[in-house]
Amino acid sequence: MLADQLGRPLRDLRISVTDRCNLRCTYCMPASVFGPDYAFLPRAELLSFEEIERLARAFVDLGVRKLRVTGGEPTLRRDLPELIGRLSGIAGVKDVAMTTNGLLLPRLAADLKAAGLNRVTVSIDSLDPEVFGRMNGLGTHPQKVLDGIEAALTAGLGVKINTVVQRGVNDAGLRGLWLALRDLAPVRFIEFMDVGNHNGWNMDSVVPSREVLARLAGEDTHFSPVNPEYRGEVAARHTDGQGHEVGLISSVTAPFCGDCSRARLSAVGTLYTCLFAGSGTDLRGPLRGEGGAVPLTDAALRELVAGIWAARRDRYSEERGEATAASGGRTAKVEMSHIGG
Ligand code: GTP
Ligand code: 5AD
Ligand code: SF4
Ligand code: SF4
Repeated sequence: MLADQLGRPLRDLRISVTDRCNLRCTYCMPASVFGPDYAFLPRAELLSFEEIERLARAFVDLGVRKLRVTGGEPTLRRDLPELIGRLSGIAGVKDVAMTTNGLLLPRLAADLKAAGLNRVTVSIDSLDPEVFGRMNGLGTHPQKVLDGIEAALTAGLGVKINTVVQRGVNDAGLRGLWLALRDLAPVRFIEFMDVGNHNGWNMDSVVPSREVLARLAGEDTHFSPVNPEYRGEVAARHTDGQGHEVGLISSVTAPFCGDCSRARLSAVGTLYTCLFAGSGTDLRGPLRGEGGAVPLTDAALRELVAGIWAARRDRYSEERGEATAASGGRTAKVEMSHIGG
């Protein structure tokens, strides 16, 4: 079986289908950087659906069982249900999921479900219109996201909720958010991470997950840990014993690199073996035969990817902790909007 230098198999592929987004979350695509003049990728640069499917097949042949479509905001990619149909039709794929801000789900959820999408993870950081509006950079009202969650549930999609926690920004509303949403779907609280190069990360703005859990607990609410569903599960799940689940994603205070089986493909076809990678490997060039080269056969493509995975040593979150926790690690990192988290 294919394994990297630390013995980790290749199980998940996260596929970014666009670098655009209809929000400007301050921790991901701050409006000051991603403004009206920002040069997003031209369409011809993006992988076509045929190319994405071909690449996904190569990854599945090498052991991938779970595909997750991301962005930017993946629902902005035209004809997305067609891509979902292609991906869910690949023999060997066990799960097709999507990470989204939910805004376009009222329009798209039924078609995505019909095309074979199993589940969505919807991000919402606050139910307070003022706080959420500030965090998403555009003043967008949280009700718009709640409508998207509702649409996903109505369409029969599995739903999880993601909330990024920033101290002094949205941490006061965490218990309220959980109480309001816990009957809809499992809520996962994410420690603010030093991804990308523009979000002004520092350790002081991280609320450690154990503190989040303490804030959610109350007189009649006590949490106990739930066993992971699979090796390398990102969220540490807890139950309140009353049928509600909380997930804690603690990349800063409790890194989970040891079991990391995730590869990431950007919208232009660059393969990254870590969320915090400084650089990746271009797969689109060899795939298209750019620069006069002979386009790769499927076998050669598999060999290329296998070689990259076999050489992998990434464990950034663990190294960040070992080095200087305060500094936010290496300087030039791939943007979150290129690989979707
Ligand atoms: P499930 O299949 O539902 O378990 O999905 P997931 O938790 O892998 O996916 P999701 O896109 O919802 O990710 C949740 C959060 O975890 C996001 O903030 C991601 O950036 C973060 N995350 C996911 N994978 C990794 C990873 O490999 N390393 C780090 N550091 N963070 C990750
Ligand atoms: N830290 C933690 N989570 C982040 N996300 C985006 N940027 C960051 C960051 N700097 C989250 C999004 C989404 C998921 C894919 O990643 O809110 O839920
Ligand atoms: Fe868009 Fe998601 Fe980034 Fe927010 S976190 S700007 S919704 S891609
Ligand atoms: Fe995987 Fe890199 Fe995240 Fe560690 S920091 S879990 S190696 S993606």
